[in-house]
Amino acid sequence: MSVFNASRLIGKTVLVTGASAGIGAATAVLFAKGGSNVILAARRTEALKSVAEQCAKAHKESGLQQGGKFATVQLDVSDKKQVASFLDNVPEELRKVDILVNNAGFVLGVERVGDISDADIEAMFSVNVFGLIAVTQLFIKDFKARKTGHIINIGSIAGREPYAGGSIYCATKHAVNAFTGALMRELVDTPIRVTEIQPGMVETEFSVVRFRGDKSAADKVYEGLQPLVAEDIAEEIVWAASRPPHVNIAELFVLPVNQASPTINYRGGK
Ligand SMILES: NC(=O)c1ccc[n+]([C@@H]2O[C@H](COP(=O)([O-])OP(=O)(O)OC[C@H]3O[C@@H](n4cnc5c(N)ncnc54)[C@H](OP(=O)(O)O)[C@@H]3O)[C@@H](O)[C@H]2O)c1
Repeated sequence: MSVFNASRLIGKTVLVTGASAGIGAATAVLFAKGGSNVILAARRTEALKSVAEQCAKAHKESGLQQGGKFATVQLDVSDKKQVASFLDNVPEELRKVDILVNNAGFVLGVERVGDISDADIEAMFSVNVFGLIAVTQLFIKDFKARKTGHIINIGSIAGREPYAGGSIYCATKHAVNAFTGALMRELVDTPIRVTEIQPGMVETEFSVVRFRGDKSAADKVYEGLQPLVAEDIAEEIVWAASRPPHVNIAELFVLPVNQASPTINYRGGK
């Protein structure tokens, strides 16, 4: 028997952006296990299909009768047209979303200010900030009209404390923090909940993307300590979503035990 009641997730419909890998994929699978329906969105359709199969398996193993409907939708959150027409590609029975997990995001490079390409700056802002805002805007009117909904934004330790070599990524995650805080304040007179999850180091494809495919550079990020895994953050997301309707988990800052800030780590313990 679970100590915490997750039955509130049963039959809910969840949209997870960036569901093809890492935190988003683990989150989709955990919601599936909890009896939710899940729309999985990202750019890589084959990877999405494979995560949807894991969702179906997790749901079957749960033995739950409700939920268990899964749809994969190709979506680049930085493409305004794709966001605008997104719901046309979602099966009708899943169009009333209850929980939106704005997870799609990434970092590119470790260049210092002055050496950062315009393309990298635009790419990070387009996905992490403009994409997250666009997807939120797509659903907020419906949430208000239906007097329901939960928006869970994936921020970062980088949105709390900036670090050298991460100026643009940190700026995007500070923007996520400001946007999320303002949204929560705007919605104070509604039943809509707004949560920001701020992970520290999580070993996913994140660092491989940052180092443009250089796996050995990515591995060095986690050398000598035990980083979080995607499932650790998925548990926090699903926990926040399954609290009673009058409880809003505003922020969750989650670190590996040997990380205290973006630059303060203990690497002698592994
Ligand atoms: N890992 C960490 O240490 C860490 C720490 C703090 C916060 N975060 C945040 O956690 C979130 C998930 O990251 P992760 O660690 O799980 O990284 P990941 O394994 O690289 O996964 C990133 C996901 O985002 C998707 N994505 C990227 N660009 C997209 C776009 N334009 N449109 C739609 N989806 C897009 C990717 O899918 P496609 O490539 O298929 O589109 C992938 O599914 C991000 O917002 C990240 O900033 C991560």
